[in-house]
Amino acid sequence: MSPALLLALLVVTLTLPRVQTLTCFWGSLMEVRNASELPLQWTTGQKNCEDGWGCQELLMLIENGPHVNVVIIKGCTQEANQEARVTHHRTDPGLSIASYTHVCRENLCNSLSTSLPLWTMPPTTGLGSLRCPVCLSAEGCLSAPELTCPAGSTHCYNGALLLSRGGLSTRLKVQGCMTQAGCNLLNGTREIGPISLRETCDPKDFLICHRGVMLTASQNLTQKPKEWTTSAEQLCDLGEVCQETLLLIHAGHRSLLLASKGCSKARTQAPQAISIHSRPPGVLVASYAHFCSFDKCNSASSSSVLLNSLPRLAAPAPGHLRCPTCVGIFGSCSPDIVTCPEGTSHCYNGHIAIQGGGLSSSSNIQGCVAKPSSSLLNHTRNIGVFAVTENSNRRDEGAAPAPYLAWMVWLGLSLAIWCGGPSLLIPLPLDSQPLLTP
Ligand SMILES: *[C@@H]1O[C@H](CO)[C@@H](O)[C@H](O)[C@H]1NC(C)=O
Ligand SMILES: *[C@@H]1O[C@H](CO)[C@@H](O)[C@H](O)[C@H]1NC(C)=O
Ligand SMILES: *[C@@H]1O[C@H](CO)[C@@H](O)[C@H](O)[C@H]1NC(C)=O
Ligand SMILES: *[C@@H]1O[C@H](CO)[C@@H](O)[C@H](O)[C@H]1NC(C)=O
Repeated sequence: MSPALLLALLVVTLTLPRVQTLTCFWGSLMEVRNASELPLQWTTGQKNCEDGWGCQELLMLIENGPHVNVVIIKGCTQEANQEARVTHHRTDPGLSIASYTHVCRENLCNSLSTSLPLWTMPPTTGLGSLRCPVCLSAEGCLSAPELTCPAGSTHCYNGALLLSRGGLSTRLKVQGCMTQAGCNLLNGTREIGPISLRETCDPKDFLICHRGVMLTASQNLTQKPKEWTTSAEQLCDLGEVCQETLLLIHAGHRSLLLASKGCSKARTQAPQAISIHSRPPGVLVASYAHFCSFDKCNSASSSSVLLNSLPRLAAPAPGHLRCPTCVGIFGSCSPDIVTCPEGTSHCYNGHIAIQGGGLSSSSNIQGCVAKPSSSLLNHTRNIGVFAVTENSNRRDEGAAPAPYLAWMVWLGLSLAIWCGGPSLLIPLPLDSQPLLTP
């Protein structure tokens, strides 16, 4: 054998994988079930893991009277091996949390397929005299039924848990019977296997809000209400509230509508405000902003929330001034020379840039205005969730409307980019893996 071949063989031997790849059971589920369905059984898919990774499994049950929230996660993990372990995080007769966690490194070793390890003797204590609303739901707990608590319960619990894994979070509203006061359902538990948990008893925390952005340019937006609904939802972080913001800009015959719904860091702002920043005759800039703090309260369904508050204008008599007029987005402000309505005295040309609520855009606005002001917004810096900046150069009365270059075409637009804040999963597979079938 030639030395070269020997060397080649040696290199091949040394670079062969020293760790074997494993096949693990794989799938996840989170669901509220009827407690009478316990114990559960399930089947799941399989997956080949990367070199050196192990198999993981988690089963967590939150039992609350007639309801049980089941979390099952199976898959590959980089975590170190961990013996199968059952932990009772809270053992109240009314409300309990228990988990089974396991990390191992043999093929298909994460093979738990029943909730039996977490099975507990049905309470022998019987019922007490306290009655509490009892609810366990990702959606919310409006009109939870009042049930008689097990003996030993002394307080009604009303809170919410936030369960997070990676960048994904989900909320669970909880009402039930407890043996102690306060907001301590988790009893100090912060993590269970791959899931981290947070708890709050402030109903304004972990809100769910409608979420979406809209940007539309058209002719009739000041007269014809535009639908403003979105099917997307967003789970807010601690301290955030729901917001909805609508900004209407109109010059000549063109309008622009910019809208956002979502979570927002609570601001010291009026809960609801309609503002007319610049009023006719001439360019109209008006806004609607609403901040609120219960689930999906940012629910205005059309732009009529703003249009209904606008001054109704008879078609204005034409005046003597003529101005280049347009409302532009995407660099498309190509002005018409328009005869201004009576009562206007100046031509305006400026930009309004908007940042926030998932939108980032700048619009060029040209048109007739009543006052020799260089500002449509009068130095307003915030409109609802939008941070606004305006820069303009007033054109003098009677200025020649001659060849007019749209030289300010810096426009940036980013739609539907929602960074920061956890995303929402309801009802929840905790990720996009195939579902198990308990
Ligand atoms: C749970 O199941 C029991 C028996 O199967 C049924 O009587 C009860 O109505 C169910 N409860 C709920 C909340 O679905
Ligand atoms: C709270 O957790 C401790 C251990 O961390 C446990 O001993 C105790 O029983 C738990 N309390 C309840 C009410 O489950
Ligand atoms: C604007 O609305 C008026 C009356 O509502 C209608 O006649 C006209 O066709 C509309 N124009 C456009 C472009 O939709
Ligand atoms: C502009 O804002 C100032 C205070 O910020 C106010 O006094 C003034 O009346 C406003 N002007 C208009 C035209 O609204």
